[in-house]
Amino acid sequence: MTVARKLLLAASTNDWMRERATKTPFVVRSVSRFMPGERPEDALAAALQLQRDGFGAILTHLGENLRSRDEAEEVTRHYLGLLERNGAAHLGAHISIKPTQLGLDLDPELCQRNLQRLVDRGTELNTLVWIDMENASYVDRTLELFRHMRQRSPLVGLALQAYLYRTERDLESLLPLGVALRLVKGAYLESRDTAFPRKSDVDENYYRLAVRILDESGRAGGLLHIATHDSALVDRLAARIEAQSVPRSYYEYAMLYGIGRPLQRRLMAAGQRVRVLISYGEHWFPWYMRRLAERPANVWFVVKQAFEL
Ligand code: FDA
Repeated sequence: MTVARKLLLAASTNDWMRERATKTPFVVRSVSRFMPGERPEDALAAALQLQRDGFGAILTHLGENLRSRDEAEEVTRHYLGLLERNGAAHLGAHISIKPTQLGLDLDPELCQRNLQRLVDRGTELNTLVWIDMENASYVDRTLELFRHMRQRSPLVGLALQAYLYRTERDLESLLPLGVALRLVKGAYLESRDTAFPRKSDVDENYYRLAVRILDESGRAGGLLHIATHDSALVDRLAARIEAQSVPRSYYEYAMLYGIGRPLQRRLMAAGQRVRVLISYGEHWFPWYMRRLAERPANVWFVVKQAFEL
C-alpha cells in the first residue's frame, strides 16, 4: 500500500479533518465528480437518467458509525422512504446500506431490527437490499446479520472483500446458498495480518474468488456483482465467462458513479448488464477520502478545484 493511500485512509476517520474539509468550498466542489448531489432527489434523477441510458442503479445514503439510536432510526426511515420512491418511479434500483448506519456500533439487535424493516419492505417492493462490508472488525457481525436476513428473504445481498485473507473461507458456507454476492477489492486501511498488502495479490485473489462464485453459486441461483473498475480484471473475467458460456443471469457488473465511465459504456455496448452505485447525502467525508485513496492522483483534481484551473 502506498504512503499516499495510507495517509488518505487515516484521514478518512479523522474528525478534525472532516470538520474542516466539509466546510471548504473547493473540497465540496470536487466531491460532485463522484456524487450527483446531496439530496435523494439528486440520486433518483441520476438513476432515472441511467435507466434511460440502459444502466441499472444502486442507491446509497452516505453515513456510517452513527452515535445515537435516534440517528439510526432516522436513517432507517430515510431508506424506507427511498424504497417507496424507487418503487413508485419504477426505477428498479437496488439499495445498499452499511450496518453501522443502522446502529451496529450501538446495539447489534437494534441494527438487526432496522435492517429487517428494510429487507421486509424491500421484498414487498421486489427490491434487492445490499449489505456493504465495512472494516475487518465488522466482518463476523455483518455475516451474522446477512444470514438472519437471508432466512427472511432471498432479496438480500452481501459485499465481500477480496483483500481479506479470510474471505475465501467465509465464502465456503455462502456458495451453496445461491445468494447475491458483491465482490469488491476492499476500501479500508487494514493490517498486513488481515489483508493482502500487495495489489497484485488482491487482484489475483479477486479473480479466483469471482471464478468460484460464478462456477458454484450461479448454478444454485446466486448472483455475482463484479464490482470493480479494473479493466484488466474485467477483461480476464469476461474471457472466462465467454469461454465457459456462463449465463448472463449469473452476474452483473457494478461500478461507482463517476468512475470508469468508458468501461461502463464498453460493457453496456457489448450487451452486458451494468449497475452504477449512486451515493448521496451530507455525510460524504470518509467515503470521499476512500475514493481519493483508491487513486491518489484524484487529489490533483481536488487541488485544481482550489485554484479553479
Ligand atoms: P483499482 O483500485 O485497482 O482500480 C482500477 C482502476 O479503476 C484504476 O486504475 C482507476 O482507473 C479506476 N479507479 C478506481 N478507483 C477510482 C477512483 N476512486 N477514482 C478514479 N478512478 C478510480 N468496498 C468495501 O470495502 N466495501 C463495500 O461494500 C464496497 N462496495 C462497493 C460497491 C461497488 C459497486 C463498487 C464498484 C465498489 C465498492 N467498494 C466497496 C470499493 C472497492 O472496495 C474498491 O475500493 C474500489 O472499487 C476501487 O477498486 P477497483 O476494484 O476499482 O480497483
